[in-house]
Amino acid sequence: MRPKVIMHAQTSLDGRIRGFDDTGIYYAVAARFNEDMALVGSETMYTAAAECPPETEKDFVKPLADPDDRRTLCVVPDSRGRLSNLHVFRDSQYCRDVIVLVSASTPESHLEYLRARDYDFIVAGEDRVNLEKALEILYESYGCQTIRTDSGGALTSALLQRGLVDEISLVISPCLVGTDAPHLFRSLSLPRRMELELKDNEVVDGHLCLIYRVL
Ligand SMILES: NC(=O)c1ccc[n+]([C@@H]2O[C@H](COP(=O)([O-])OP(=O)(O)OC[C@H]3O[C@@H](n4cnc5c(N)ncnc54)[C@H](OP(=O)(O)O)[C@@H]3O)[C@@H](O)[C@H]2O)c1
Repeated sequence: MRPKVIMHAQTSLDGRIRGFDDTGIYYAVAARFNEDMALVGSETMYTAAAECPPETEKDFVKPLADPDDRRTLCVVPDSRGRLSNLHVFRDSQYCRDVIVLVSASTPESHLEYLRARDYDFIVAGEDRVNLEKALEILYESYGCQTIRTDSGGALTSALLQRGLVDEISLVISPCLVGTDAPHLFRSLSLPRRMELELKDNEVVDGHLCLIYRVL
């Protein structure tokens, strides 16, 4: 068994993942899903931490669990061990803590970085993270029922290709961005057409919010 996976993304009318004025709508729609965890791409996390203050003593201690804490848990696949800025996210306004997905190929030095700071990590897969196995562990060991993506196109396409997405939530923003930003579905490769059913549609401040169920 695995959690329900909601792919959530914002694009311009020309399908680009960056370059909008208003990203508040993305988080406003995301807040409706009541997910247990957010699956964040490592590239997304890497670029989100534009400013990375030095670590303090507090960053080496796992935050205490508080049942009233409404912040989400962030889960990030990082097979190459690129992220040494996790303290920017841990116990932040974005999330209460981070769980890292690694693979058998993740450098031992990075696992040491994670252990020294008491980050939970899950080893799944040989080279890249085996997303199916990791989701099963999140369901079985962490009780995760629903997980929402917060990533660009690489992670969401990898999930779609493996049949691991249950719903697609798209916020289409009223602008054209042009070639400065990548397309959301630029790396999607499917063996056959994937049929979708429209579950919900709404216009919010000129943004078109669509939810499709994957059949
Ligand atoms: N418009 C939106 O809704 C939205 C939302 C969030 C972020 N963004 C933007 O998106 C950009 C980043 O997007 P991106 O597409 O470059 O990166 P990304 O979505 O962050 O994808 C990279 C992640 O996918 C994993 N991955 C890729 N292929 C995989 C596979 N076959 N198996 C397992 N894991 C796989 C990578 O794991 P490894 O590290 O292990 O390789 C990494 O964690 C940023 O600029 C950010 O601002 C846009």
